[in-house]
Amino acid sequence: MLPKRKPHYKFPLIPVSLIVTLISFIFLYYYYTKRDSHFAEFSQTLKTSHTLQCSSQALALSEKFMWYAPHSGFSNQFLEFKNAVSIAGILNRTLVVPPILDHHAVALGSCPKFRVIEPKDIRISVWDHVVELVRSGRYISIAEIIDISSLVSSSLVRVIDLRDFVSIWCGISLDFACLNDLKSQSPVSKSLKQCGSLLAGLHGNIENCIYGVDEDCRTTVWTYHVDGHEDGVLDSFQPDEQLKQKKKISYVRRRKDVFRTLGPGSDVESASMLAFGSLFSAPYKGSESYLDIHESHQDQRFLSLMEKIKFLPFVPEIMIAGNEFAKETIKAPFLCAQLRLLDGQFKNHHKATFHGLRQKLESLRQQGPLPVHIFVMTDLPRDNWTDTYLGDLVSDAHNYKVNFLREDDQLVMQAAKKLTAAGYGQRFIPNSESRIGKKYCSNQRLPDVLLYVEQTVCSCASLGFIGTPGSTIAENIELMRKFGTCSRGS
Ligand SMILES: *[C@@H]1O[C@H](CO)[C@@H](O)[C@H](O)[C@H]1NC(C)=O
Ligand SMILES: *[C@@H]1O[C@H](CO)[C@@H](O)[C@H](O)[C@H]1NC(C)=O
Repeated sequence: MLPKRKPHYKFPLIPVSLIVTLISFIFLYYYYTKRDSHFAEFSQTLKTSHTLQCSSQALALSEKFMWYAPHSGFSNQFLEFKNAVSIAGILNRTLVVPPILDHHAVALGSCPKFRVIEPKDIRISVWDHVVELVRSGRYISIAEIIDISSLVSSSLVRVIDLRDFVSIWCGISLDFACLNDLKSQSPVSKSLKQCGSLLAGLHGNIENCIYGVDEDCRTTVWTYHVDGHEDGVLDSFQPDEQLKQKKKISYVRRRKDVFRTLGPGSDVESASMLAFGSLFSAPYKGSESYLDIHESHQDQRFLSLMEKIKFLPFVPEIMIAGNEFAKETIKAPFLCAQLRLLDGQFKNHHKATFHGLRQKLESLRQQGPLPVHIFVMTDLPRDNWTDTYLGDLVSDAHNYKVNFLREDDQLVMQAAKKLTAAGYGQRFIPNSESRIGKKYCSNQRLPDVLLYVEQTVCSCASLGFIGTPGSTIAENIELMRKFGTCSRGS
């Protein structure tokens, strides 16, 4: 059998291998001689075939929108949200309100070290995380936690929930995305992917449709002045020579007027969507890392907006729960201690973190009356307190009464339930009245509101507040205390 078959196989094999060799040679020839032009052409074809466009319904909207990519923990996201509100006000664009991202699901990097993720990359990771939140029933808008009703009712800024925006702009209902466990090849999944690429600006800017802001804290500090007088000026903080050489970077940081660059009258005006990367900013070496927008402006509308966003409270459901815990459970004047003990930068500073608390408690104990009531909020699980100063406090019941909340406490769960029930009405959906009261996902889980309730309790601590130095949570509590929010909402 075998000898018979052999010639049968040999015959066609020779020409095939010849052809393959020939093609390889032709390919290699082209590859090495015309590599650049050939591949430019190739990628051009790819681009055209994948070009995404705004849907006609998106282009028909009279409103212009902006979104941004929040990152890191809640307090950072809150800060970026405030920055986004002020920019949306300046640019007169409707702000697409994002959900609260999981703690550290998205990272930015370090502005002072000039090591941050590209704006379009951070946008797409935010988008992917958003889809994940919808699928797992954990999506909660930041506007369901932070009360922006006074901003919206005074028309200082227009907002739309990201889910509603997606359903209008991309024509995808996110209801579908959460109803069933989607296969990655399903039509809804594909549309979601396309919508994400478009919104992240992965395929570049598209006229009238999307403009992705490429500027980030390595190159730009946004400013806002009546006459735009700082526009184009070098910022006082620049990468030093050592860094430039070590990292082979050539960044120059310029101050740019956000209104002139991106506002009405600029090239960007016609874009239906303006997409920022991170809007995180912090003071650094006498400058600001990314946003330096202050109330020095003359415009009354802008001044009112800035005044309002100085302090944005939690929604009433959270405020009420926090006040109730202070009044009905602690039932006495108390001190609040906010102790971050676990996360990266805080892990190695336990001694310093406890030091301030120890001193304060010692003096309160000497003044009396006893026991001294304390409310503790910390990321250290209760079961791990034993060998710490917290353990000492708990066991010294004669001198101290330690209070704390857990995620599954009745009070916290109740607040989450009330908030979820009220949430849909709070979402300010301009374009679709019919959606109000409609549930988004049947698999929606209760949000974790412990952190926000705890902050509210701390705003009520009349014996004082000891926070962890460098913690943004501590900063927010100080702000709440300064604005005297404790009795509000009760
Ligand atoms: C702001 O935008 C709205 C809606 O797009 C528009 O009606 C209004 O005239 C704009 N206001 C200014 C001051 O440009
Ligand atoms: C808390 O205690 C548990 C059990 O003793 C231990 O496994 C865990 O590593 C501790 N966690 C921290 C953050 O100390």
